[in-house]
Amino acid sequence: MPAATDAPTQQAHLEWDEQGQPLSSHFADVYFSNENALAETRYVFLANNQLPERFAALTTDQQLVIGETGFGTGLNFLCAWQLFEQQAVTGARLHFISVEKYPLNKADLLRALALWPELAPYAEQLLAQYVALHPGFQRLVFADGRIILTLLIGDALELLGQLDARVDAWFLDGFAPAKNPDMWTPELFVELARRSHPSTTLGTFTSTGYVRRRLNEAGFKMKRVPGLGKKWEVLKGAFIGSAAAPEKPWFARPAQPRGERSALVIGAGLAGCATAASLAQRGWQVTLLERHPAIAQEASGNPQGVLYLKLSAHHTTLSRLIVSGYGHTRRLLERLEKHQDWDNCGVLQLAFDDKEAQRQAQLATAFPTDLLTSLDKKSAEEKAGITLPAGGLFYPEAGWVHPPALCELLSQQPTIQLQLHQQALELRRDCERWQAWNGEQLLAGASVVVLASAAEIKGFSQAAHLPLKRIRGQISRLPATPESRTLSTVVCAEGYVAPARLDEHTLGASFAFNSDDLTPNSADHASNLQLLEEISPTLASQLNAAELDPEQLQGRAAFRCTSPDYLPIVGPLADATAFADAYVVLGKDARQVPETPCPWLDGLYINSGHGSRGLITAPLSGELIAAWLNDEPLPVPADVAQGCHPNRFALRALIRNKS
Ligand SMILES: Cc1cc2nc3c(=O)[nH]c(=O)nc-3n(C[C@H](O)[C@H](O)[C@H](O)COP(=O)(O)OP(=O)(O)OC[C@H]3O[C@@H](n4cnc5c(N)ncnc54)[C@H](O)[C@@H]3O)c2cc1C
Ligand SMILES: C[S@@+](CC[C@H](N)C(=O)[O-])C[C@H]1O[C@@H](n2cnc3c(N)ncnc32)[C@H](O)[C@@H]1O
Repeated sequence: MPAATDAPTQQAHLEWDEQGQPLSSHFADVYFSNENALAETRYVFLANNQLPERFAALTTDQQLVIGETGFGTGLNFLCAWQLFEQQAVTGARLHFISVEKYPLNKADLLRALALWPELAPYAEQLLAQYVALHPGFQRLVFADGRIILTLLIGDALELLGQLDARVDAWFLDGFAPAKNPDMWTPELFVELARRSHPSTTLGTFTSTGYVRRRLNEAGFKMKRVPGLGKKWEVLKGAFIGSAAAPEKPWFARPAQPRGERSALVIGAGLAGCATAASLAQRGWQVTLLERHPAIAQEASGNPQGVLYLKLSAHHTTLSRLIVSGYGHTRRLLERLEKHQDWDNCGVLQLAFDDKEAQRQAQLATAFPTDLLTSLDKKSAEEKAGITLPAGGLFYPEAGWVHPPALCELLSQQPTIQLQLHQQALELRRDCERWQAWNGEQLLAGASVVVLASAAEIKGFSQAAHLPLKRIRGQISRLPATPESRTLSTVVCAEGYVAPARLDEHTLGASFAFNSDDLTPNSADHASNLQLLEEISPTLASQLNAAELDPEQLQGRAAFRCTSPDYLPIVGPLADATAFADAYVVLGKDARQVPETPCPWLDGLYINSGHGSRGLITAPLSGELIAAWLNDEPLPVPADVAQGCHPNRFALRALIRNKS
């Protein structure tokens, strides 16, 4: 388990010189050359990594992965993007991974990037997505998926150590080694080497002998080459070291599917629509099968869902997934109609008892204030526009979402073919293709299948062993009143209530573990009204809750789908019986790593188990599936991907039963 990011990220502190160029107060160094920054970037990082030629040589569906230390103003990223547009064919993709310990705030980024009018078309897109960039892995998708940026917010050594990627070209750009010796360490170079392969190259503006020698020791062959302008020399090189040790076979990447890039996604809720979108953006032909007459008819069909972050001050696997997923969803939402389909009105989590108040106090010290802040009762009331029983934690960039609108946005792509009224009951393998059948009716076939049908996944024999559970939940729809319209943020305690959308507030939600009946019932409406009373008796009275008859209330019920460890289940599926046979030795000694390859069910994947937080975890899980299927950098740390891996349960069962 890697060290957790235990200090909140600090923002960069900038000074601006007389030419309007940014300097770091912390490092007393410049972000880029004062003389000719664009030419220097293009020479030191692009040309010295042979990127013009390498971009031009990519074929459709191929990709190139760049890794950078020090994102700074994003100048190198934007120059690489511009070059990629000039050189690479349609269908090729650029992955840019960059680590940044002290991110610029948006105003500083805007000011710095205004220095380069020729990059404006790219800078504008970066700025539009420069939101919710909190510690850990943050994915930003540009140009319909042609350009993918994975920002690792935090320390280079710590976060590159968690990266699961094969990098083709490195940009080392973390201020001068003399000004920032903590970053230019042999340990960091070992992490770079671990993610390199025989064609990996490296460019850096420094020519320091220490850096050259240590990079050589790590497996790179570095040489000094002439610099530009005042800079006499810089370094360029290539990786000549040996390959990193393979991953444990049960978490290793399955072979890429052969043949056409076609995928069948079963289930058109948030998980299915997101998976379809991520694959379509990478050039896959996707068939999206849904049993209902429309998408988003089950758990993803509520009028309003909340971007509710249940975090841990210990930065657990789930907590880190939530911070990454929240950022990704939040950036996607920028493409929806505000106020109608979503609203970043903020989410207030009330400190409704002592235990919750203590938990919140810990969270407030463990996360940066642009993610969450602690508010006393008075400030919380000002934010929420209503009288409250307590203060709480406020998430200023969060809010509510109309989930069907997000599903619609994700599934509306020319290469996604939506097939409604199609219930897949069985999966059969025919040569190298999967087929979905309903009785004797063939519904569709493709080289890959992604199961995104929530707990119904257990109906397929290949996935019947997965421990997915259904939990019924019901929301109540409350007509807005003139007084209730003052509610200006989502407020949560044990339940939640959102500001009105189309003249109705959504109030949620009940939990029932042993109920199969999806007809809304008055008992759950009554319990939701009780949750409202606990959030704010004043709001309850403004909404005339006491006079509302639970028998007459409108609402809807659906099943959440959860796993025993509350992490979603996302990734490739193995044959359960063959898996138990292959790794039976783990029952005797859990430290063994047999060489037996994992018995994958070739081309079969799952995206499910999103519990009560699918708005936050399902879209990023679509990116994770696409990363598995395209041999791309994973959008989450390696241990988070393993925490979500379908094989984790079979592995735990083997180890638990050890004799
Ligand atoms: C009452 C309630 C309140 C919630 N509130 C929130 C909230 O505030 N914030 C939040 O983030 N999350 C919330 N959630 C959770 C969130 O809604 C889910 O995590 C998310 O919608 C799960 O998406 P999904 O695509 O996995 O499942 P679903 O949306 O259930 O989609 C599964 C789809 O698969 C289809 N399907 C199933 N079997 C087959 C088959 N055999 N063939 C074809 N199609 C099939 C189904 O018809 C369905 O459309 C709430 C859930 C409930 C029930
Ligand atoms: C010279 S600037 C990078 C310029 C940038 N590549 C650009 O295109 O604008 C160096 C960056 O490295 C970051 N940095 C310094 N030490 C770091 C560390 N240990 N981990 C991650 N980032 C670090 C700094 O905050 C700064 O933004």
